[in-house]
Amino acid sequence: MKSKLLHISTIGCQMNVYDADQIAGVLAPLGYTGTDAIETADLVVVNTCTIREKAEQKAFSFLGRLAKIKAANPSLIVAVGGCVAQQEGQAILKRMPHVDLVFGTHAIFRLPEMVRRIEQTRCRLVDVRMSDAIDSDSALVGPLAPGQVSAFVTIMRGCDNFCTYCVVPHVRGREASRHPDRIIEEIRMRVDQGVREVTLLGQNVNSYGNKEGLCSFSELLERVNDIPGLGRIRFTTSHPKDLSDDLIGAFGRLKKLCRHIHLPVQSGDDEILRRMNRRYTRAAYMDKVARLRVQCPDIAITSDMIVGFPGETDRQFQATLDLIRTVRYDGLFAFMYSDRPSAPATAFSGKIDERVKKARLQTLLDLQAGITAEKYQAMLGQVRTVLVEGTSRSLDHFTNPAGDGGLQWTGRTSSNHIVHFPADEGNSGDKELLTGAFADIMIETAHAHSLGGRLIQGPMGATPEKGEKTIAA
Ligand code: 5AD
Ligand code: SF4
Repeated sequence: MKSKLLHISTIGCQMNVYDADQIAGVLAPLGYTGTDAIETADLVVVNTCTIREKAEQKAFSFLGRLAKIKAANPSLIVAVGGCVAQQEGQAILKRMPHVDLVFGTHAIFRLPEMVRRIEQTRCRLVDVRMSDAIDSDSALVGPLAPGQVSAFVTIMRGCDNFCTYCVVPHVRGREASRHPDRIIEEIRMRVDQGVREVTLLGQNVNSYGNKEGLCSFSELLERVNDIPGLGRIRFTTSHPKDLSDDLIGAFGRLKKLCRHIHLPVQSGDDEILRRMNRRYTRAAYMDKVARLRVQCPDIAITSDMIVGFPGETDRQFQATLDLIRTVRYDGLFAFMYSDRPSAPATAFSGKIDERVKKARLQTLLDLQAGITAEKYQAMLGQVRTVLVEGTSRSLDHFTNPAGDGGLQWTGRTSSNHIVHFPADEGNSGDKELLTGAFADIMIETAHAHSLGGRLIQGPMGATPEKGEKTIAA
């Protein structure tokens, strides 16, 4: 079979990163292998996201740029997938004559058949059919990047929550969970390929299996925890209303479960939460945070926030700031509210001026930056176990004293903090040496978005799981 080149551009969320993996996996039997060079590709797949207006604009401007590349290479096949494809369907073909294929979020497994038809007949196709049953049960995941130690594993798709600002239930369909046996098979396969850490993905992993009567999410975690060779488990995202005591207890029980939870709150004001249809109150959220900290005192908590939801008053925004001060998050993803087609809040009155939204966003980010800096300072002098993900170039004088863009190692703590350490202690240059290993690092410097440290033990001596220790600086 003739080898053909596939370029996948992923714009947007982690779901899309996983979808990109699956797309590569389903197209491999047709002879497609991945390339970074878009100009030489035979097939370009643009994996789009529509959760916020910005992501959608990015997707359309990227698609616009592809027209030139197609003009230079008319045999190129251009395919558009993901949430924008699901939402816009046929309209994309009309608007963009250089696009050959539009496939929705449930159509990935029909891709090979469609691509084959386009190769043979040069027709233009749209497939945005949705189904209730999950059809991605076969573990057709793509190849790993060289040295990849961490992988996403989708455990469910869709969402039934219908938050009023959100387009996801409309473009990803109803919630459906994969069978646990298939998930375990996929993770075992990834571990055999060299993966040491998995992140279980779903819009709301806390309700995993409920509908189908499969096992609960914490039971699934227990099975994953038993997989030999796997070092760490992460998951995202959790809806606060579905965070059970059983799952909270898992942070105390399961050795491999990382001490981090992403628990999006969106707002600190009860009236805004009600109009967002989040179905919890600020007090209920704070209660879950307190229970998490009882089970796991040093758990890192991160969140998503929306500023400028329709009707948000300054007092309500202050309530969000107050919640941030009270929880003291380890990190925040904050967004200005944007209208999304098919989301009910688009029709709400009291839209907030863009300048006000921008100012609120900046205030919130400044507040969080201060908290992050204080938390980083408190980590100085502590020893943390990191999973080493590879090397990167550093201009920083601490991790690379020459300051010449030389190599530094990069890893993550159990709490998901990024740590760099110098590649100069007899370990430089040998990419195999530490990648995928657990190493104990003394944290010595704090930056805006990462920490710097020094290798004190590793790779063999480091403790892979919950062995983090504090020693005197
Ligand atoms: N406007 C702004 N932010 C949004 N999000 C989802 N929909 C919107 C919207 N219409 C944010 C939420 C969610 C994250 C993935 O994106 O904070 O948790
Ligand atoms: Fe969107 Fe709410 Fe579902 Fe998250 S839980 S995907 S914010 S509808």
